[in-house]
Amino acid sequence: MVRGVIHIINPYDPGSFPEDIEKRYGVKSSDVISLSSNENPFLPPDNVKRAYNDSFKFINRYPHPVYRDLKERISDLINVDSENIAVGNGASEILKMICEVHLEAFDPVTIPIPGYTLYAILSMMMDASIRFIDFPEYQIDPEKLLEKRSKLIFICSPNNPTGNSVPESVMRKILRNTDAIVVVDEAYSDFSKTSHIKLIDEFDNLVVVKSFSKFFSLAGLRVGYAVGNQETIQSIEKVRLPFNISTISAKVAEACIESIDYFNEIRDYIIRERERISKKLEKMERLKVYPSDANFILFRIEGEDREIKERFERKGIILRNVTGLMGLDGTHFRVTVGKKEHNDMFLQILQDYLEHR
Ligand SMILES: Cc1ncc(COP(=O)(O)O)c(C=O)c1O
Repeated sequence: MVRGVIHIINPYDPGSFPEDIEKRYGVKSSDVISLSSNENPFLPPDNVKRAYNDSFKFINRYPHPVYRDLKERISDLINVDSENIAVGNGASEILKMICEVHLEAFDPVTIPIPGYTLYAILSMMMDASIRFIDFPEYQIDPEKLLEKRSKLIFICSPNNPTGNSVPESVMRKILRNTDAIVVVDEAYSDFSKTSHIKLIDEFDNLVVVKSFSKFFSLAGLRVGYAVGNQETIQSIEKVRLPFNISTISAKVAEACIESIDYFNEIRDYIIRERERISKKLEKMERLKVYPSDANFILFRIEGEDREIKERFERKGIILRNVTGLMGLDGTHFRVTVGKKEHNDMFLQILQDYLEHR
């Protein structure tokens, strides 16, 4: 018999994928442009491809048990001791391990909304007791957040789906006034000017979670990491499955870090495109655009809308429909910032739709 809580957990909703669009509307999946999952639209450079090919010769062996080389590369990248770093199969696995380390049945977990839906699923899996707090546009008020005792608090910065970062002053107020573990998910912080990693020296209750899926273009390989004090990191190491990242993923992630200049250029391109799209959206009528620090933009369309997602998908573009997400009122869509030509297609379809609906 499955555990009771499993009956009430809804699986994580990943949105539509190109194969679904081919099946539904007959658009060839290789022609579909996904602006749905906040992926990086560019492949990594040639030296990363070489590392990918070279790692073939190691695949009959297990990877290094504690991923020493990868941790050292990350340590150089973020200027944090490698003993303060744990690596995982994507940020998702890191988040899961943090929950496994800290949560027991009925422990109070606080989740600000609108936010990333995985936090609730992972907390439910531990039979924790979740308190959602609604902060319109994810403007977190530390006093309200800390009104009741929590064992663990999830913060997302920049937040998915609103796109805004949590300012350092707010983070400090939260960290200073709670003994809860504060998990700061920075999957998108490389696209913003704010990272809270430097606060780990000051606050023992802070764990920062990072992903290689967005900035480093590795969504398909699954690499993420946690940054925190040594006790937290050692606890994560205890629950981490042996060899949780493949040899290929680890070696490719190391090569990505060596190509940081390439990824910084892509980031600058994405930020320029983000600002360009935001300005265009702001000029459209009956649209509210949320300011973004990430590689995606959230917007709200006035009135009810059932057709727009289908309209885009029939033309081979996938957006994320976040209408109905807890903490968001009204019709909302999230669009990933992609290559310029694809962003232009998105803007054109939306403009036509708004004019003729
Ligand atoms: C806020 C946030 N955290 C974590 C993740 C998961 O990242 P990963 O692909 O590294 O598991 C995502 C993925 O979209 C995300 O949006």
